[in-house]
Amino acid sequence: MFEQLKEKPADKILALAQAYREDPRADKIDLGVGVYKTPEGVTPIMRAVKAAERQLWEVETTKAYTALTGDPAFLDAMVGLVLGEALARDQVSAIATPGGTGAVRQAFDLIRMVNPGARVFVSDPTWPNHLSILAHMGIEVVMYRYFDAETVGVDFSGMMADLDGLRAGDVVLLHGCCHNPTGANLNMTEWQAVVDLLNAKGALPMIDIAYQGFGDGLEADAAAVRYVAVNCPETLIAASCSKNFGIYRERTGILMAVAQDRALQRVAQGNLAYLNRQNYSFPPDHGARLVSMVLTDDALRADWQAELEEVRLGMLRLREQLAGELRRLSGSDRFGFIAQHRGMFSRLGATPEQVERLRAEHGIYMIGDSRINIAGLNETTVPVLARAMIDVGI
Ligand code: LMR
Repeated sequence: MFEQLKEKPADKILALAQAYREDPRADKIDLGVGVYKTPEGVTPIMRAVKAAERQLWEVETTKAYTALTGDPAFLDAMVGLVLGEALARDQVSAIATPGGTGAVRQAFDLIRMVNPGARVFVSDPTWPNHLSILAHMGIEVVMYRYFDAETVGVDFSGMMADLDGLRAGDVVLLHGCCHNPTGANLNMTEWQAVVDLLNAKGALPMIDIAYQGFGDGLEADAAAVRYVAVNCPETLIAASCSKNFGIYRERTGILMAVAQDRALQRVAQGNLAYLNRQNYSFPPDHGARLVSMVLTDDALRADWQAELEEVRLGMLRLREQLAGELRRLSGSDRFGFIAQHRGMFSRLGATPEQVERLRAEHGIYMIGDSRINIAGLNETTVPVLARAMIDVGI
């Protein structure tokens, strides 16, 4: 059988991380994979997570299975973090998943199971792994315009024109905040118009929220998700704890299915549990338990929020510094969008050739579409990047 296997192309983001590791240059700069780093280049374990881990080591007495859906305390805490008070808990079905990617995959599985002909509309561009998973699952994809290379912001009229092609039962994948890879986000008026259109078409919103707390703050970043979940008959939400709790390798995420009709909640919950059982049985517990400990303990939660806020504000300062440096070097405001974008990423709008020159001549690594991870910078490397960008003609 194995002789029939064909080589698989490497994931672009992960291949770039490998190329960076293999580059012997001491002054290389990694702006690739979406992992937070301190100015010293370290991806820290957050203080509250470490404290929870210490406590857990003391109090945990068994490693027996939890529920098939994941620990109920984790599900309650995460539903609270993402949806706040917007909905009653009994309107939300939820399962713990291995990371946000696991939640995305389970959502696609649910969609395919219920409606094999559903098409999934995704933003152009989107996180490349959305496309890869959809292709792997044989689900039809329709791209909708999202990014305007001219304004380096959202092409909202293009987006609405493309979503006009929705049919009842289609799914629209939206980034809840901190759009990956562009950093350009819808404002609330635009979210409202999207919701009106989806409801008029009978389409289902699916929201991927992997960076809550990295944009405008924990509550502000959840505002759009809450608006959609309250105003659409049904919503799927895939949320990740990898970034905002910094527990990437623990694989901690949640899939939520929200229904206005409470009678649907019970059967949706059963179907989500079924999908966990089919795909991997019980979801990982360690990271989920740390998250629920942090979220349900006042002191740990306050410390986590404070540290997350330091991370967010640090990235905003780097955005301001980079935009300022480029204003000075270019004598123009054409890089002002870097300070306007939100989250970990910005798409610079450089050509693949310019991105390649940055890597070859300056040792600066970014994704081929010119997405940079802001957290890969620090005060010293911002001017280095700015000079290199001007040097290659961006
Ligand atoms: C990214 O976009 O860089 C992150 O979400 C990490 C990943 O798995 O691709």
